[in-house]
Amino acid sequence: MMRKKIVKIGRNSPCPCGSGKKYKRCCRNRKKEISIKEEYKNRHDIIIKAPRQIEGIRKAGILLMSILAKVEKMIKPGLKTEDINTLVHEMTIKAGAIPAPLGYREFPKSVCVSVNDVICHGIPGERVLKGGDIVNVDVTPILDGYYADASKTFFVGTPTDAGKKIVSIAAESLKRGIEIVAPGATTGDIGHAIQDYAEKQGCSVVREFVGHGVGIDFHEQPQILHFGKPGEGVPLVPGMVFTIEPMINLGKRDLHVLEDRWTAVTNDGSLSAQFEQTLLVTETGW
Ligand code: MF3
Ligand code: CO
Ligand code: CO
Repeated sequence: MMRKKIVKIGRNSPCPCGSGKKYKRCCRNRKKEISIKEEYKNRHDIIIKAPRQIEGIRKAGILLMSILAKVEKMIKPGLKTEDINTLVHEMTIKAGAIPAPLGYREFPKSVCVSVNDVICHGIPGERVLKGGDIVNVDVTPILDGYYADASKTFFVGTPTDAGKKIVSIAAESLKRGIEIVAPGATTGDIGHAIQDYAEKQGCSVVREFVGHGVGIDFHEQPQILHFGKPGEGVPLVPGMVFTIEPMINLGKRDLHVLEDRWTAVTNDGSLSAQFEQTLLVTETGW
């Protein structure tokens, strides 16, 4: 009888898949990737995204940024927050996408619009923007089933000194968080970088709302805290997709939610600003 031949593939031998690459640079890694994927799913409930999913999320993100660019152009004193909702809703639908906020846990509108002391989750309506206001617009389209989530805070008319200060510190906070993103860093490293910066500027970091995995669903694991200690949380690995979205207050961090059960406002009435982006962890960073 014939003896079954067991061929052990050397790390440096040509990959049996025929790519021409060394085995260790090709399919040997694929095995490793699959096991990280499984480990992250089982241990952390984190979905490591496949290339096809990443493409889908990227397309949703491109649509999102085109919507935010239009929003930025329309913002001026006299505009109703409802008008922002109308624009976001119509652009989203026209692109064949769905506005994720609409009906999400009974949220009544297609976008969050948060003015001045509103930290997040402001409901668009009859409020009229006036010169000197700051307004965050948080957009989340679902395109072909894929989610992207981002927001910016805009000036209405001529900014006040306080407005300029909090918007610039919130933007820089997001930047400091993004700079940390690379394989090997942890979610806690991101939070620490943001908290360290924002508090040194004399501002405070909101704790009740956090960044999150995103892409297949609106809010996935892991949570991305905007505060914390280095080394805490989950190590980042390529294929993770999540938001960083620090909410920074000019005064104290304490907040309350209005009767409408959504609108979160600062207790001391101080200004609050936020910037949010959806990021993909890559081999070299993001
Ligand atoms: N876009 C928000 C976030 O960054 C979530 C808004 S939930 C909604 O996670 F229902 F208010 F839209
Ligand atoms: Co988000
Ligand atoms: Co958002």
